[in-house]
Amino acid sequence: MIRKDIKALAAYHVPDSTGLIKLDAMENPFSLPDDLREAWVNELAQVEINRYPDADMQGLREQIAKQEGLQAEQVLLGNGSDEIIQMLLLANEPGVCVTPAPTFVMYELISRWLKRSVASVPLAKDFSLDADQFLKLCAREKAIMAFLACPNNPTGNLYPEETIVKITKGFNGLVVIDEAYAPFSERTHTHLIAPNVVVLRTFSKLGWAGLRLGYLLGEAGFIADLNKVRMPYNINSLTQASARFFLQHSDVFQKQARDICFERNRMTASLMALDGVEVFPSQANFILIRVKDADSVFEALKTGGILIKNMHAHGGLLRQCLRITVGSKDENNALLVALREVMV
Ligand SMILES: Cc1ncc(COP(=O)(O)O)c(C=O)c1O
Repeated sequence: MIRKDIKALAAYHVPDSTGLIKLDAMENPFSLPDDLREAWVNELAQVEINRYPDADMQGLREQIAKQEGLQAEQVLLGNGSDEIIQMLLLANEPGVCVTPAPTFVMYELISRWLKRSVASVPLAKDFSLDADQFLKLCAREKAIMAFLACPNNPTGNLYPEETIVKITKGFNGLVVIDEAYAPFSERTHTHLIAPNVVVLRTFSKLGWAGLRLGYLLGEAGFIADLNKVRMPYNINSLTQASARFFLQHSDVFQKQARDICFERNRMTASLMALDGVEVFPSQANFILIRVKDADSVFEALKTGGILIKNMHAHGGLLRQCLRITVGSKDENNALLVALREVMV
């Protein structure tokens, strides 16, 4: 029978977005250019779908490693980075996991599935992280691992490098630097990879959310051990073929990421000009805002055809907060018009 604590959980809820402008899930708003789509479909047509996928994915891991200036042995692939978070929590020694709060919800959710406890350090009002406080909690809890989303979701800020380095040096458990928003961020941290430091990435935000492909970068020995809890054939053949093809055209996606950053900065300035909206600076492809009544703003936008993410129910620092994914120029303009109407 199902465990009582699992029964008590709510399943991960994905709202119905049919017919709405979708600015809730940090997706890339651009569809594939026609010529690229056609060439991609031709690639997919070559896939031998009657066969199991390439289990080792050496070629794909080499492509990713080359892009990062690392070796293929330093790359582990997951069915989304969520699956890699699960592998990390599955394979690590028993013990407490420490995270900042608020942060990405899956660290805690997957920990619960695996009966692991999580301790959290509250971020300051400006969402900064006190490294000493973080290290103190790690020591007090005799923690075995820590997750640092850099930039953080849902706040959008990137902790200063000194903060991250202080934690990686001062904590001898595993530090997972989750760089899901690396394509939009001014800084990445692969240079910090060490026996106790790994970097987690995903292609979801770059434009391939539908593929479900994430990767972990770390020392070869660590990756080899973690590979022992990877499901055989976890990356299906269509995803592998697509990723290999798209990586050969990464300039297209890099350009889209630059366009998204441009729109993010434009949106930040436009939102700041609105009365009653507090805007938090972002290094990601979303912007967190605080309003007087998040529930009513969220509902009014939804009624007007725009879906964003209401963070208010999380409480604490997220009270009255809304998270807006940066969309295309037209989508962003529609959001601004609707928000202006709602806010008066
Ligand atoms: C910080 C962070 N890590 C990981 C993920 C999961 O990404 P994926 O789509 O690769 O599972 C997300 C998704 O929102 C995220 O915000």
